[in-house]
Amino acid sequence: MSDMRVAFIGAGNLANRYHYPSITALPDVDLAALCDLVPQKAEATAERFGVPRTYGDYKQMLSEVDPQVVYIVMPPQFLFEPVTYALKQGRHVFIEKPAGLTTYHSRLYADLAEKHHCLTQVGFQRRHVPAMTALRARVEARGPIHTVSLNFLKSTKDLSKHAGFFEGVVDPLTSDGIHAVDNLRWLAGGEATRVVADVSTRFAPGPFPNAITAHITFDNGAVGLLHYSLVTGRRIYRAELHGPNVTAYVDPDRDSYIVADDGEPEVFQTSEFGKDLGGQPEHWLGFWHEHRHFIDCIREGRQPSSHFADAVKTMELVDRILAGG
Ligand SMILES: NC(=O)c1ccc[n+]([C@@H]2O[C@H](COP(=O)([O-])OP(=O)(O)OC[C@H]3O[C@@H](n4cnc5c(N)ncnc54)[C@H](O)[C@@H]3O)[C@@H](O)[C@H]2O)c1
Repeated sequence: MSDMRVAFIGAGNLANRYHYPSITALPDVDLAALCDLVPQKAEATAERFGVPRTYGDYKQMLSEVDPQVVYIVMPPQFLFEPVTYALKQGRHVFIEKPAGLTTYHSRLYADLAEKHHCLTQVGFQRRHVPAMTALRARVEARGPIHTVSLNFLKSTKDLSKHAGFFEGVVDPLTSDGIHAVDNLRWLAGGEATRVVADVSTRFAPGPFPNAITAHITFDNGAVGLLHYSLVTGRRIYRAELHGPNVTAYVDPDRDSYIVADDGEPEVFQTSEFGKDLGGQPEHWLGFWHEHRHFIDCIREGRQPSSHFADAVKTMELVDRILAGG
C-alpha cells in the first residue's frame, strides 16, 4: 500500500470520466475513500474504481481516513465549505476550474492554503497535454514565445436557451473559457499588463457574454490573442504558439503541428504524444499528467504549476477581459 493517502469528494460526471481513472492508475497513490451526497453515485464510483470506503459526509471521511490529499470536484457554488474546511486542516487540495465561485473566493482559498502550508492545484489540465508541453519546448528551444493565440470555440445547439453555466451561476468565460485564458497566460509566460477586449452577447437572450475577443500584452513583451465563443461552427480548442521563425499549433482533440523557417509542417496526431505513459483520453488530454504532477509536487514539497495563488492571477485576468480591459 502506498504512503500517499488520498480521499475524493464528489463522484460526478467529469470526476468519473477523467479524474478517478487517472488517480487510480498512479501506483504510488492510495485512494482510500470517496464521498458523495448521493449514495448510489458514491457506491457505483467506488465499485468501478475499487475504492474501499464510501461516505455521505465529507467531514466524517476526513476525520476517519485522515488523508494527506483531498480532491474536491464539484461545481463551484458548492466548493466553499469543503475547500475551506480541508485547507484549515492543513490538507493538500485539488479543485477543478474555476478556482472558486468568485475571484474573492479564489483569493481566500489561496490565503488559507498559504497560512496552513497546503499544496494546491486547480485543474487546468491543458497545461499538461503532452503535445502542448512537447511542442512548447520545441518552440522555446529556438527562443522565447512572442505571440500566443488561443481559440476556444463552440456551437450552442439551442440559442434560445441562455448560455450560463451551472444553471447560470457562473458566466461562460469564468466557468469554461477560463481554460483558454489560463493556457494563454501560461504559454505567454508573463503577467498581463494591458488588456483590450470585446465582450458580446450574440443571438441569445440574457446577460451571458458568449462571444469574446481580447488582445493582451504581457510584461515580458509577449502578446496574447483570445477568441472564446459559443456561437461558432463547432467545438475547436487550438493553441497557436509563435517563437523566432517557428510556429506550433496544438489541438488536444485532433492534430497538432510545428513548422519553422518556411519549411514543411511536421504534422502529428495529438494522441500519439506521451503514449509511453498511457494511451487513453485522460492521458493525451492532460488529466493523468496533471495528477502525476500534483502528486510529484507533494512528494517534493513544492507548489504545483497551477496552485491556488497562481489560479488567482487567471481569475483576475478573466475579470479584466470581462470588464473590457
Ligand atoms: N477540466 C475540464 O475540462 C472540465 C470539464 C468539465 C467540467 N469541469 C469542472 O468540473 C466540475 C464538475 O465536476 P463533475 O462534472 O464531476 O460534477 P457533477 O456535478 O457531475 O458532480 C458533482 C458531485 O458532487 C456531489 N456533491 C456536491 N456537494 C457535495 C458535498 N458537500 N459532499 C459530497 N458530495 C457533494 C454531487 O452529489 C455530485 O455527485 C466543475 O468545477 C466544472 O467546472 C472541468
